[in-house]
Amino acid sequence: MLYELNVNLDNRSYPIKIGYDLLMEAGKILFKEGLKGNCLVIADNNTSIFYDELRSSLDSNNINSTLTVVDSGENSKSLAQLKKLYSHCIKAKLDRQSFIIALGGGVIGDLAGYVSATYLRGIDFIQIPTSLLAMVDSAVGGKTGVNLDEGKNLVGSFHQPKLVLSDLKTLKSLPNREFIAGMAEVIKYGIIYDKNLFSRIEESFNEITAKNENSSLLAEIIGRCCEIKAEIVSKDEKENDLRAILNFGHTVGHAIENKSGYSSSMIHGEAISIGMVFAAEVSCTCFDLSMDDVNRIKKILTNVGLPICYKSLGWNELKEVINIDKKTVNGKAHFVLASKIGDVSIGHVVDDEILENTWNKINE
Ligand code: GLY
Repeated sequence: MLYELNVNLDNRSYPIKIGYDLLMEAGKILFKEGLKGNCLVIADNNTSIFYDELRSSLDSNNINSTLTVVDSGENSKSLAQLKKLYSHCIKAKLDRQSFIIALGGGVIGDLAGYVSATYLRGIDFIQIPTSLLAMVDSAVGGKTGVNLDEGKNLVGSFHQPKLVLSDLKTLKSLPNREFIAGMAEVIKYGIIYDKNLFSRIEESFNEITAKNENSSLLAEIIGRCCEIKAEIVSKDEKENDLRAILNFGHTVGHAIENKSGYSSSMIHGEAISIGMVFAAEVSCTCFDLSMDDVNRIKKILTNVGLPICYKSLGWNELKEVINIDKKTVNGKAHFVLASKIGDVSIGHVVDDEILENTWNKINE
């Protein structure tokens, strides 16, 4: 094992284990955590390639598994897909002692998590994230849910996993663009919580993004992000206040994704990268962030290969979507702003004119 930590939530606490070739040990680890009986593994058509290895490890520990594969992509986070998955739970004879394994990225984690939160009023589930984004963000903290036609994640539940198992080997087959997009969330943790993490990424981004086999540096960086998220979630599981700092860059980031039709022209981490540059510039104009820190943020995002502007989208188009985001209060967007790298605060309402000027400035 390269890195281990715990999410502390009273009787819902759970371990996060990060290592190389962990799928081979998954059965033994699950058995030790007291998980036995039948399980349903939910994967998509990219991540189902990991099932054979997982299954043999589960088999050797007397855990009987069934695989179900959904189409990859955001469209699978739908009510129609949920209905199919509940039928698969019944076919796989899952009872209240059974559990579900999410084997995939954020979409699979959210979907499988919500099935397990609701099937038989809730059964156990395990997160086996296979993308960088899922390892550092969506697999930790218990947010689960599906989309409605009207918007993303509008139906969901907080349901913590029993265990998160991150096998760095799965990142080898992740498309490089997806890996780099995950780096946006990694950099975010540095900005919102840990200036040392930020400096470490600045110093060693080449080594981190090389995805070297058995990389203890990559495990350490992913582990540190999970520690930060675990600490935040332990203090504010249901996002009453502190957890909202995780949304740094997400107000504009989500609006960009929405305006690009959640298409491959702009994937989540790329949109968040632009959203973070926007939030940093606003933080400099009307809060305490120095221009030097704004430039460091832009530089590291550029160095890892992330976009920092989006010239083809006008402010008026973005504004429409920002104003219907579920994080607005009384029709006003509330921004997370930074006072310095490593420190942010929530609930900032910013003048429309400043927002518009900032958008125009970053896209000059
Ligand atoms: N992805 C943000 C959160 O889990 O709260």
